[in-house]
Formats: sequence, C-alpha cells, structure tokens
Amino acid sequence: MSNSIFPENFLWGGATAANQLEGAWNIDGKGPSTADMMTGGTVDTPRRITKVTEEGTYYPSHEAIDFYHHYKEDIKLFAEMGFKAYRMSIAWSRIFPDCDQQEPNEAGLAFYDDVFKELKKYGIEPIVTISHYEAPFTLTQRYNGWVGREAIDCFMRYCKVLFERYSKTVKYWITFNEINSLLVPAGGYLGGALLIDDSGRFNVTDIDSKQIRMQALHHQFVASARAVKLAHEINPEMKVGCMINYSCGYPSTCKPEDVIFAMQKDQISNMLCGDVQVRGKYPAFAKRYFEENNIHIKMEAGDLEDIAQGCVDFYTFSYYKSHVMGTRPEGDETQGNVFGGFKNPYLKASDWGWQIDPEGLRYVLNHVYDRYQIPIMIVENGLGAVDTVEPDGSINDDYRISFLREHIEQMREAVRDGVELMGYTAWGCIDLVSASTGEMKKRYGFIYVDKNNDGTGTMKRFKKKSFYWYQKVIKSNGRDLD
Ligand code: BG6
Repeated sequence: MSNSIFPENFLWGGATAANQLEGAWNIDGKGPSTADMMTGGTVDTPRRITKVTEEGTYYPSHEAIDFYHHYKEDIKLFAEMGFKAYRMSIAWSRIFPDCDQQEPNEAGLAFYDDVFKELKKYGIEPIVTISHYEAPFTLTQRYNGWVGREAIDCFMRYCKVLFERYSKTVKYWITFNEINSLLVPAGGYLGGALLIDDSGRFNVTDIDSKQIRMQALHHQFVASARAVKLAHEINPEMKVGCMINYSCGYPSTCKPEDVIFAMQKDQISNMLCGDVQVRGKYPAFAKRYFEENNIHIKMEAGDLEDIAQGCVDFYTFSYYKSHVMGTRPEGDETQGNVFGGFKNPYLKASDWGWQIDPEGLRYVLNHVYDRYQIPIMIVENGLGAVDTVEPDGSINDDYRISFLREHIEQMREAVRDGVELMGYTAWGCIDLVSASTGEMKKRYGFIYVDKNNDGTGTMKRFKKKSFYWYQKVIKSNGRDLD
C-alpha cells in the first residue's frame, strides 16, 4: 500500500446524466427533450430520432432506471460507498418544458431541491451539468437546436433560474457535457445541432456540414461564457467548468507526417474547445482550419468579448479510451466514444471495442495541465460491460475493478507529476441507459439495476463486487486499490 498522494478534500464519486437515469419523462410538467425522442438501439442498429413519439416504439429515456422515484434509495447507496461528490445533470425540459417559456416549471425545480437536500444529508457535493446531451425538443423543432442563435437566450433564461435557485446549494457547475462532440457528425445530434429529415434520421447532408456544426458550437461557446459570468455575478463562490470528451490519439508511426497529423487532430478535437473556454479566445490554429474547411462563423458584436470575459474556473473531461491515427496500421478501425481512430496493437479493448489505456489517462492529465494550469477533474471514466447475476445474487465484476484500479493508479502518477487534480467521478455509478446505443446491457455501475434492453425488469438495485471495492478506495483516499 503506497501513501495517499490525493489531497484530503479529493472529490471521489460517481457521475450520471438526467436523460440516462431519471425517467419520468412526462411527469410533473416535464416536456419532451431531444433525448426523449431517441429510440433504443444496439451496436449494429443505430438509434433513431423521431419527430413524434411512435406508438409501439421503445424510447429508453422515458423510464430509464426511474431515478425520479428512486433517488432517495440511490443516493443512500452512493453515501454507503462514501461518495464525496455526485456529478449529475439537470433535465432542461423539466425546468422549461418549452424552450421559449418565460416562467419555469416549479415542480421540476422542487424535484432538484429534494435531490440536493438528500445529497446534503450525506455530505455529498453536487457537481451539476447544465446541459448533458439534451435540450427541450422545441429547441430542435423551432431552431434546429444550437444551430439557431435563439438557443443562447433560451439557455441563459434557464441558467439564470438555476443559478438563482441553487446558488447556496451547488458550488460546482459544468455548462455543456462533451462540448467538442459537435466537431464530428456523430456528435452533432448529441451536441444539439439537430436537424431531422423526413425519414426520422439526422439530415446527414446538413449535419455533415462542418459549417453548421461550428456555428452551433460558437453559439454554445457564447452561451457558456455568458453563463460563467452570470454565475459569478450571482454568487462569486460558484465555480463553473468546461467538459471535454478527451480523444487521446497517438501517431500510428513515428513518421513525421503521422506525428503532425496526430498533433493537428489533438488541436482540433481536444484543444479548440478547451482553448476557447479556458483561455477565452479562439486559438491561432483555428484560423487555418476554418479557412481550409470553408467555415465562416457568423458572429455578433460582443461575442468575442463575452468569450474573453467568461473563462471557466476549472477543466473537466471524460476519458474512456485511446486510439492511433495517421498512416493506417495493420488491423482495422476501432470503436470509440464519439471520436474513433485505428486499433493500437499494444492495447486490449472492451466488449464494445473501446481500447483500454490507463497510461493514456496520465498522458492526457499532464498534457492538459501543462497547457492550462488550472484545476482538473475527471468527470467520466469507466468500463461498459455485460454483467452476470450469479444464482446467489452476487455480481462479480472483477474486470471493472481492474479497469478502475489501473486508471486510478495512473491518476496517482499524474498527481506525482504535479497535476492539480480535484476529483474523480466514475461514469454510470449506477447502471443506466447507454448514450450511444440506448442499451441497458452496457453497464458501468457499482450498483446493478434489474432492467433489460427491452424495458422489462423489476428495477431492483443490487450491489456489485466493485461497490465494496470502491468503498475501500474512497475510505483510504485512494491508498488501498487492492
Ligand atoms: C460520454 C457521455 O460520452 O460517454 C455519457 O457523456 C455516456 O453520456 C458515456 O453515457 C458512455 O458512453 P455510452 O455510449 O457507453 O453510454
């Protein structure tokens, strides 16, 4: 057992997103969100977005794991594991069922009052994502999501309500989940640049357009910066962070062209958004990228000033995997979390093809800290796997324990390297709906939920072996990883 090098106030915990666990999609005044219009899928069958909810079609978010009615039980289990922090998101359409509505839905606000009260009871710090891959569906219908500039005002109205209501309860906020997802077509709908064609699929021609996705991203940058400013005005104690889906891509060979290619991918995929949100301006390399891709962002007077004045207080990211890029190596493409690449012969992959690379986490932590020198939090990391319930009811997820142990070991190394790491919230601390496939069987949790892909199941919660392991990790402040 090595000595703990994590600070005493290190924020150990877990992370979830409203649309993946709350359910209650149309209860107590909640309106439909983009996520509520997404059908279930699998690795081979992509999810669809429908313009109206279709009779007989399964929409996983509608019930999810019904956290809405189970939150007391679930938070009690988080507390039993010793969570210091819980990263959660607020469902925008629970607060504003219609994006243009002027007055918020009191029942929605009251629900989160109750959740925060419950967390406080156990001394668990909430870390709240304001928009985690969802928005009121009306935003899509009227403005094509974030493609329309109107989204900024709708979002600011929502933020004002949240910051005023919860300024005494919530210290840590994150504006957009994985904001850089908008840089790739696959992330276009998740990021909210959502254009649907008549077949009920994404309008590929439009969504494929870098111009449209970059315009939507610019609107999110402005909205995020204004939100940071507003939060600080309302209560200077509130801290606001960005959240990047960190796509770790190594050059596939040491050929200089491959190294340059990987560098450029890193700049665009990872650093562009971080630079805008942390440093308050578009980076120098963006100019050439925009020119070469025929991207012309429409800006209004004051946008760049807002961005400059709304720098985030801390940097957060998700980390699941790495890949290689450049000259195509032997082997094939690898699956990824929104961003893909080629297989790395030195790494193994999860059942869903995401390559497991704990050292990559140390690499990313150092890389990001060297650049920004502000506190960092890992707000998503984990292994999506199929779990088996044994006849005696136990769930022996040793594979998950190994995954997490190896990643936490590398966090330790990064802290020794000098990285200012504030916290770690493991993704899907309780089993929930997969964002990419809509499945339940891709499980991340320390807590098993008896719910199946087709929506059947008792919804009962069970502790997995990893539950007890993580409890020990937290209790020892990361010393005991055995
Ligand atoms: C992140 C998202 O990209 O990855 C989460 O922020 C998502 O919402 C997580 O659930 C894991 O991805 P998946 O597709 O396995 O659920």
